Amino acid sequence: MLQPNTIAIIKSTVPVLEVHGTAITSRFYQQLFANHPELLNIFNHANQKQGRQQTALANAVYAAAVHIDRLEAILPAVKQIAHKHRSLGVQAKHYPIVGQHLLGAIKDVLGDAATDEILGAWGEAYGVIADAFIGVEAEMYAAAEKQEGGWAGFKPFKIARKQAESSVMTSFYLEPEDGSRPASFAPGQYISVKLTVPGETYTHIRQYSLSGEPGQDAYRITVKREGGGEGQPDGVVSNYLHEQLNVGDIVELSAPAGDFTLAASDASGPVALISAGSGITPMIGMLHQLKRQGRPAVFLHSSPNSEEHAFRDEVRQLAESGSGIEVRYAYTRPTEADRAAGDSAAHLGRIDEAWLRAALPQDVADCYICGPAEFIKHVYRSLKSMNVPPERIHYEFFGPAASVDGE
Ligand code: HEM
Repeated sequence: MLQPNTIAIIKSTVPVLEVHGTAITSRFYQQLFANHPELLNIFNHANQKQGRQQTALANAVYAAAVHIDRLEAILPAVKQIAHKHRSLGVQAKHYPIVGQHLLGAIKDVLGDAATDEILGAWGEAYGVIADAFIGVEAEMYAAAEKQEGGWAGFKPFKIARKQAESSVMTSFYLEPEDGSRPASFAPGQYISVKLTVPGETYTHIRQYSLSGEPGQDAYRITVKREGGGEGQPDGVVSNYLHEQLNVGDIVELSAPAGDFTLAASDASGPVALISAGSGITPMIGMLHQLKRQGRPAVFLHSSPNSEEHAFRDEVRQLAESGSGIEVRYAYTRPTEADRAAGDSAAHLGRIDEAWLRAALPQDVADCYICGPAEFIKHVYRSLKSMNVPPERIHYEFFGPAASVDGE
């Protein structure tokens, strides 16, 4: 337990560190990778280049520090990050390395202002925060291994089928190479894929939502091919998957993770699934689940146009089987054919508040949002201004998490 004096130092220095937040974490990553290049096998190089991870880590450390005397208040956030850490294979032995480099970076950036007392307090606080993560992650590793068909770490899976879903999205059906049946999962969860790409020094790990149903012989993930080339570093992995990997090839997967899953609800109204682009992938599994449970749903999806629109047939089949599933689409960059089809196929434009008001019934139950950060923020704020209680709005960012309420 931290001494009151230590807690006081932490709380009084958080604002100072926040001012230098990005400088500290940039310095931290630079030194971390210089001294431990093997960690580049775990971290997403694209997020590093875009500076997004710097902000996510800085925010998490300061949020934890502000709550240092009652960490249980941020347990949901810890759990969400811990899911990701577990999925990536982050281990207890990594925490002292990260802590040492974080303190070193604070010292480097603050210079003389970082007194021994301040550094000592932050060292202790980091230890408390790290222990909280290590404890939660140890439970998650144990649970993943204990589950039927489950495993800890990464395990080889064979590509059993590859299926184009749109001009940019392709599904991969992945079966355990050892012939076992893969562990069950809750729709909305994701897996990590680990790849060795020829010509790349370090392995790449990416998270993809499971787009299929649990209880099958294979997991289904659906990957959007990113543009690639200059300014599009993510393209390395998605292009490799699309272009180079075929049926019979092996990829390594970690067990399903994540807490973006359908909540049990006693509300009678429909559940809203609201997605944009590849944010449709967790929604498809959720839609199958709602259908199985006989719960009504409203499925809203924004795509650039009909060519990039994935799963249209699969969603139509679910809706046509008569279980109270309403479907509406929006196209933000419609093709000529989309314009000719007009609003009967899709609303031509963005999903905005006016459209959401028209698309969602008054008694809407829980709302789930997935897509790019700007889309999530926009939909979240619209739902709030429509008086949907915040605790009924669930969302998942693809890539490092961001704030929905802030700028
Ligand atoms: C992701 C916080 C320790 C490796 C993240 C994220 C946060 C975070 C907020 C983003 C989560 C998201 O995108 O949803 C922390 C905190 C730590 C800590 C507060 C210490 C108390 C570690 C350690 C490692 C690690 C010890 C392993 C060396 C990663 C990786 C990601 C990540 C690889 C994924 C993002 C990427 O690849 O760029 N962490 N983390 N973290 N963390 Fe940590």
